[in-house]
Amino acid sequence: MSARLQDRTALVTGSTDGIGAAIARALAAEGAYVIVSGRDTARGEKVVAAISERGGRASFVRADLAAGLPAIGELADAAHRLAGGPLDILVNNAAMLITPGPTADVGEDLIDQALTVNVKAAFLLTGLLAPAMAARGSGAIINLGSISGLFGTSGSALYSTTKAAIHSLTKSWAGEYGPAGVRVNTVAPGPTFTDKIAAMRDHLAPMIAALPSRRPSTPEEVAAAVVFLACDDASNIHGATLSVDGGRAAV
Ligand SMILES: NC(=O)c1ccc[n+]([C@@H]2O[C@H](COP(=O)([O-])OP(=O)(O)OC[C@H]3O[C@@H](n4cnc5c(N)ncnc54)[C@H](OP(=O)(O)O)[C@@H]3O)[C@@H](O)[C@H]2O)c1
Repeated sequence: MSARLQDRTALVTGSTDGIGAAIARALAAEGAYVIVSGRDTARGEKVVAAISERGGRASFVRADLAAGLPAIGELADAAHRLAGGPLDILVNNAAMLITPGPTADVGEDLIDQALTVNVKAAFLLTGLLAPAMAARGSGAIINLGSISGLFGTSGSALYSTTKAAIHSLTKSWAGEYGPAGVRVNTVAPGPTFTDKIAAMRDHLAPMIAALPSRRPSTPEEVAAAVVFLACDDASNIHGATLSVDGGRAAV
């Protein structure tokens, strides 16, 4: 185990599964104490157990980010309590992935839910946790964006809107918290084969075939980018977007 994040504390939202679970494992492998969070306690405890088996440190805190401020406030309080003070690292990863379809078929409830989970939760959680990092004078916040937030994607207007908002928040927060020593950056994955996304491999095949890399990312490749931005190797990187997309954003 290397130790670029020894004695650091991290909260990763949506880390019971997929990319978030890989981020939690990767941060812990670098020595961080990781707070794993999501709605599914069984999956969350499994991620914690896997980290512990490899000699890492982690705890699970259940939170439904769709529930708004009471739940998000409780998550922030639990994170401060478990970390024993301000966090060192916040990863705003949780998001609803939305089945593509025509804009006219998207109902108001889905719009509200997607904006709540994908945007409002990160906004409120950062507002609750970043000021303590700033008061201490150090911290790293990494937001999970997407290539869908960088390009217009026909049939994914709602999901793309939420991800574009995340890209925008990174830049605003870099300006707001950077002067106090808190670095805020985005990792923007392209198609990344979690179990869920790998099941859509036929649908994604044409997009993947057009990538310079000709292959999807793995969750571990996305997690490695998050670890880089979280640790001191990235000490003067603020407001950046690090794409892990096989070259999609460039070509
Ligand atoms: N996979 C890709 O190809 C891809 C590409 C570009 C960007 N991204 C971005 O990468 C991030 C992770 O994506 P992923 O593919 O790993 O997604 P995923 O497999 O669907 O995992 C989503 C995570 O978010 C949590 N979550 C969902 N709704 C929640 C809620 N209401 N409250 C709390 N937690 C909630 C889930 O945990 P529970 O079920 O336990 O609540 C789960 O741990 C997202 O921000 C996504 O937009 C992914």
